[in-house]
Amino acid sequence: MATFLVTGGCGFIGSHLCAALRARGHGVRVLDDLSSGSEANLAPGSKFLLGDVCQPMALREALAGVDGCFHLAAIASVQRGEKDWLGTHRTNLSATVALLEAARASRIPVVYASSAAVYGANGNLPLHEDSTVQPLSAYGADKLGCELHARVAGHVHGIPTMGLRFFNVFGPRQDPASPYSGVISIFCDRLLRKEALDVFGDGQQTRDFIFVEDVVRALIAAMRQVNVAAPVLNICTGNGTSVLQLAYLVAELCGVRAEINHRPARAGEVRHSIGLPLRARERLGLGSTMAIRDGLEATLTWMREGRPGLAPTSRSSVNGRTPIWQGR
Ligand SMILES: NC(=O)c1ccc[n+]([C@@H]2O[C@H](COP(=O)([O-])OP(=O)(O)OC[C@H]3O[C@@H](n4cnc5c(N)ncnc54)[C@H](O)[C@@H]3O)[C@@H](O)[C@H]2O)c1
Repeated sequence: MATFLVTGGCGFIGSHLCAALRARGHGVRVLDDLSSGSEANLAPGSKFLLGDVCQPMALREALAGVDGCFHLAAIASVQRGEKDWLGTHRTNLSATVALLEAARASRIPVVYASSAAVYGANGNLPLHEDSTVQPLSAYGADKLGCELHARVAGHVHGIPTMGLRFFNVFGPRQDPASPYSGVISIFCDRLLRKEALDVFGDGQQTRDFIFVEDVVRALIAAMRQVNVAAPVLNICTGNGTSVLQLAYLVAELCGVRAEINHRPARAGEVRHSIGLPLRARERLGLGSTMAIRDGLEATLTWMREGRPGLAPTSRSSVNGRTPIWQGR
């Protein structure tokens, strides 16, 4: 059995990945600064290292002796990138370069999270891996930067990688309390409380929503397919759902009527985002993805059960701990 480092393993996608790796008998080490993740999400049996992926010392220590790294730590929010351009750039791109540099000596294979945000303004649907990339946000530009540096990692330094362009991921443990959370967790939370929904613009904008367990399957399969050509693959369903369709579907599953308040459209928001999943299915041997209705049921069940595993991290719980790069 192998040992893997998962950066961002206390976050939404990372925590599901760690649980799946542990279930397969692998050793798991998690490097996370708990800035948006929670220690309550940590998969049982994982080793937790509190630390910042921007710190080369922390990365070197976390990578020592592992067989591979899943790099998921990021500030996963387009809006945060608008407010704190340089700060998010440090985490979303500089840290990836630092990680690849730390992986260089032992040529540790790296599977990393890219995003559909790299396609940005490209409205030629469905988006496939050879579509033109036109990021509209600092977040998308940094994810594209990760892909370019992964190419350098393979070409110049012989580090095998694979980048996965996740579309809109949803499922249990996506925190609806975060102002930057995904639309599905916010709609599920509001409708379970019988509250009205805010919809930006006309609500006809479409997204390709993929359930977190499908994303985890792709991540694990990708670790077996990394190579120095630094391939990138779409991780999506190929199906588009408009924000209004989503609102009515969640309302139906909650047994309530959706009351919708239309808010002004958000500047720079991508209108339609639907990907072509064929290449990933072929190269990673993936089957079909979970239907959105089933994924929504699973998400609602988790919320109804009191959201196990999701506890907001208080700063004091972090302050009481010593991050791994300090005092060394
Ligand atoms: N959720 C989506 O729909 C989606 C879509 C496309 C891409 N992605 C990418 O997938 C990855 C995981 O996203 P998520 O939705 O699980 O987000 P998340 O916010 O739940 O998880 C990110 C984790 O990274 C940690 N982190 C942030 N900055 C860090 C730092 N400097 N050092 C150490 N840890 C740090 C956070 O504490 C958190 O646990 C991210 O790279 C994100 O950009 C997510």
